[in-house]
Amino acid sequence: MTGKEKTIMQDDALSPRPVRDSQSEMAEIVLPNDANPLAALLGGRLMHWIDLAGAMAAHRHSRNYVVTASVDHIDFLVPVRVGDLVILRSSVNRVFHSSMEVGVKVFVENYIADTSQHVASAYLTFVAIDGAGKHLKVAPVIPETEEQQRRYDDAGRRREIRRSELERRRRAR
Ligand SMILES: CC(C)(COP(=O)(O)OP(=O)(O)OC[C@H]1O[C@@H](n2cnc3c(N)ncnc32)[C@H](O)[C@@H]1OP(=O)(O)O)[C@@H](O)C(=O)NCCC(=O)NCCS
Repeated sequence: MTGKEKTIMQDDALSPRPVRDSQSEMAEIVLPNDANPLAALLGGRLMHWIDLAGAMAAHRHSRNYVVTASVDHIDFLVPVRVGDLVILRSSVNRVFHSSMEVGVKVFVENYIADTSQHVASAYLTFVAIDGAGKHLKVAPVIPETEEQQRRYDDAGRRREIRRSELERRRRAR
């Protein structure tokens, strides 16, 4: 690769990209090994899937390696049973510098009754890094719909809360 081609590729990697380009969807069927003795999905298993679904959108948007820096609280709204189909949808809400907030919304589908219920939502922060662990700048994300714009604005407010909480915890150490 010539120096010029390399510069063009690097510039391209930092060009703003719409939210829809990296929106991701993941599906899992709940198996007995994912469940507690009452055949309900384990919260830890769902958290693992949320992390993976979030990372998919973050990888696609940043076109780099990412690590999970934090996960905001998760509410489990309804129980999920063995045999249910779990759908996880992820979307980059906002990019800051090297970090990005990704929202993951989880649904359970009952394919026999043809119903879908909202199970959980979470906001995760991923940081883009290179192979040596150095933070990398991430391309801005472009909200195109009213809903995406609302999430973009809310992500800014959540970042302020996260930063002040992080600061408070660091001082308390
Ligand atoms: C996340 C991590 C890269 C941050 O490194 P750091 O040197 O503390 O980072 P800095 O303070 O310079 O901040 C870098 C970015 O991360 C963000 N960040 C750091 N800690 C954060 C936290 N707890 N929550 C949210 N964002 C955080 C900062 O806001 C900053 O974002 P910006 O560049 O968009 O402004 C580092 O703590 C790390 O590697 N942690 C382990 C990650 C991991 O192993 N995850 C689980 C496995 S994937």
